[in-house]
Formats: sequence, C-alpha cells, structure tokens
Amino acid sequence: MVKVGIISGSLRKESYSKKIGENVAQLFPQDYETQFIDIGNLPLYNEDIDNENTSPEEYTTFRNTLKEMDAILFITPEYNRSIPGALKNAIDVGSRPYGQSAWNGKPAAIISQSMGNLSGFGANHHLRQCLVFLNMPILQQPEAYIANSSTLFDDNGKFKEEKTTQFLQVFVDAFVDLINRYNR
Ligand code: FNR
Repeated sequence: MVKVGIISGSLRKESYSKKIGENVAQLFPQDYETQFIDIGNLPLYNEDIDNENTSPEEYTTFRNTLKEMDAILFITPEYNRSIPGALKNAIDVGSRPYGQSAWNGKPAAIISQSMGNLSGFGANHHLRQCLVFLNMPILQQPEAYIANSSTLFDDNGKFKEEKTTQFLQVFVDAFVDLINRYNR
C-alpha cells in the first residue's frame, strides 16, 4: 500500500478544502491508502518547548504520522494572500528537530481553492516556496486552482459536476506518477 496523507489548510468543520479532499481521496488507485492528518491540535511552534525531554505529545504524534506517509496532498484556502497560519505552523512543527524534518523527500501536491474567482493562487505559491525548501518533490503540472468552491458540491458533499471530477482525476493521476517515481 502507498500511503498518502491529506492535509487541509482550513480547520473549519464545513471546510470546502476538506470536502474537496474527501472527493479527491476517492480518485486514487486501489493500492493507495489516504489518511487525513489533523493539524488543528498542534500548539504554536516554540523552540523553547521543543526539545528531547519536553516536546509536546502533539508534535511527536504529528511527526510520526508524517513519517509513515509516502506522499502528502495539501488542500488549502488562501488567507490574506498567503497560507493559513495553522498550515504554516504544521509545516514548521514537521520540519524540526533540525536535520530530522518529517517532510524531507516526500512527494507533494497542492490544491488551492477559494469561494471567489482567484482560486488561492497566492496561497498555492507561498506553500510551494516552503515545500521547495523542505526538499519535497512537488507536482508541477497540472496545477490545481479551484474557484467558486462553495458551488461545487451537492447535498451529500459530492462534486456536482463530472468535469470537476475529471479535472481532479487527471491531477491525481499525475500525482500518482510522481509518487511512483520516488517510491518504487
Ligand atoms: C479569507 N478568504 C480569502 N479568500 C481569498 O481568495 N483570498 C484571501 O486572501 C482570503 N483571505 C481570507 C482570510 C481569512 C482570515 C479568512 C477566514 C478567509 C476567504 C476564503 O477563501 C474562504 O473563507 C474559503 O472558503 C475558506 O476555505 P475553507 O474553510 O472552506 O476550506
């Protein structure tokens, strides 16, 4: 089994990022397993509390969960033309201790979304900048900027339109190719 961790940049219960993630999780091949990784419980990163003896349990659990993953899919809204603080915090927590980053070398893909037309371009590219530094091979094409996210779902939270599924299937297939290049 290839394991893909899915991280939503939004903590909101009814988050469109999470709903996109639930739909996209269905598009991976059968020998792939997807797992949502919660970032909402992570204390704000602080080097003073992060050492061998006193690291918060949430940091350790999060890092260990990341290490079990073969790849990471990020789905995020844009907050003030960048990524949400909760997502940046999770990136920082996963990147430490120095030299033991849990992100290192894991293939990654990014879907950004917004309720308006701009599709989270700023968040998508700020996140990309962090992942480049963290040595994560990132899916470059196709890019996934999802606009008008509130209109995508039916009453059961499924994509209403086949064209949304088709586009994201092409995206997932390309991500799977990238993952296979690094994991097999
Ligand atoms: C936003 N939103 C937003 N949208 C956008 O396109 N560009 C932006 O810079 C911002 N900034 C922003 C800041 C903050 C603090 C909030 C709460 C919201 C709107 C945002 O795209 C919208 O709320 C998304 O639907 C949030 O995603 P989830 O929670 O549905 O996944």
